Amino acid sequence: MTAAIIDGKGFAAGLRARIAGQVAALAARGVVPGLAVVLVGADPASQVYVRNKGIQTREAGMASFEHLLPADTAEADLLALIARLNADPAVHGILVQLPLPPQMDAARVIGAIDPAKDVDGFHVTNAGRLAVGLPAMVPCTPLGCLMLLKDRLGSLSGLEAVVVGRSNIVGKPMAQLLLAADCTVTVAHSRSRDLAAICRRADILVAAVGRPGMITADMVKPGATVIDVGINRVKTEGRTRLVGDVDFAGVAQVAGAITPVPGGVGPMTIACLLANTLTAACRANGLPPPEGMAV
Ligand code: GUN
Repeated sequence: MTAAIIDGKGFAAGLRARIAGQVAALAARGVVPGLAVVLVGADPASQVYVRNKGIQTREAGMASFEHLLPADTAEADLLALIARLNADPAVHGILVQLPLPPQMDAARVIGAIDPAKDVDGFHVTNAGRLAVGLPAMVPCTPLGCLMLLKDRLGSLSGLEAVVVGRSNIVGKPMAQLLLAADCTVTVAHSRSRDLAAICRRADILVAAVGRPGMITADMVKPGATVIDVGINRVKTEGRTRLVGDVDFAGVAQVAGAITPVPGGVGPMTIACLLANTLTAACRANGLPPPEGMAV
């Protein structure tokens, strides 16, 4: 069998177009969704992310506010900026780019963001709200994975889902989202015994471990839907290329459907950041969030 390729890039483009339509409708009522992105320091990869976020925010018709702070900024100054953004009605979403420099405590910084503006969904209040089934801001990457899964499979009810990876950013919220969608959920990780046998149970297999090619064909149930969250830079023959956590060539022979890297989950992350910003703007104005974009 050769798996269907799940076109995350195409889906993300469609999602951004729907968001732009909703933003235009909201703007006609006098509300322009605004996203503030804060970057501390000059990490080149972070600079690229922040630039792309700004471009896509503006393309969706939203206001983009960028705050670029020097690497030696004191934590108190960052907290003061966050307090100003929390109080600013033009700012509906706040994202502090991670990683932060060593003089800063990321948990304290994230904890200072108003949970209603926490478009990354990293605040403990949002993690808790997601866990107990209250409306929450949900981390962008797992939200994007859920959208791709629902688009591919329709109802997820009763399916066996295995999430490999237990990070706060992907693995744990992914498991919560799948549980809320009535899957039977297993969270596996680097210490799991017989990972292959666990993975082979999965109708839905989500790989989020950051190890190139670690999910191989023998770990996949025939016909399973495989979501590859990994974005690993590997150097072969002097060339750097992006590969996922899934051995794509092998697994594509077994799976029913699979996300490629690049072009799968990656493009969904910024699209879902825009979706979260729109959701935050709607909620801030007493409006329901757009259908299918929020939890
Ligand atoms: N650094 C890399 N990815 C992300 C992200 O999604 N959010 C934040 N805040 N920092 C990141």
